[in-house]
Amino acid sequence: MQELLRVAMPKGRINQSAIRVLQDAGYPIPDDLESTRKLIITVPEAGMEFILVKPVDVATYVEYGVVDLGIAGKDVLMEENRDVYELLDLKIAKCRMSVIGLPGREPAINPKVATKYPVVASQYFRERGQQVDIIKLNGSIELAPLIGLADWIVDMVETGQTLRENGLVELEQIFGITSRLIANRVSYRMKNEAIQQVCDRLQAVVARSE
Ligand code: PRP
Repeated sequence: MQELLRVAMPKGRINQSAIRVLQDAGYPIPDDLESTRKLIITVPEAGMEFILVKPVDVATYVEYGVVDLGIAGKDVLMEENRDVYELLDLKIAKCRMSVIGLPGREPAINPKVATKYPVVASQYFRERGQQVDIIKLNGSIELAPLIGLADWIVDMVETGQTLRENGLVELEQIFGITSRLIANRVSYRMKNEAIQQVCDRLQAVVARSE
């Protein structure tokens, strides 16, 4: 029997679009990978075994070679700079990384910036020659300017709903984000034919959707 490819799938909001892109490529993946608490799910008819992990951890599993492939957001890839191959822009889970603040505020001299992405935020402000204090948070980032913890935040904006509901505005867009197919470097050599086939089939889906 052909060896299964191990794939790290993001849990949560990107999960469904990640499953759909694989289904559109002809892989018979069930819609409800997340319906139980099982974290390892084998789908022999697709030739794949999935692990379900937090989006921020996908590239870590891929880098360490415990899985061959993963679907990871560009936000995490920029922040973590993991040693993996980025094979394909899947053009799913589109959103953007932005600087966000309260409307009508004078910029502070040495603004405090709260973010889940300290590397991305530091690099952005460094390139602009702007001195800031970065405050690392792990969620509910939009709270920081509302409650006086920070002047600005650097965070992902998808629909803009979180900003609207909290009276915040986008001050600057930093870069666009989509999910990427990534591969472990050793797997890519050792299982090249199988991985390339997955990549080609997904590439065809992306091309059709454009
Ligand atoms: C992300 C991000 C924003 C929100 C943007 O948060 O940090 O808060 O989604 O999406 P929207 O533009 O569609 O409103 P997430 O849902 O991952 O929660 P957390 O960061 O608070 O854990």
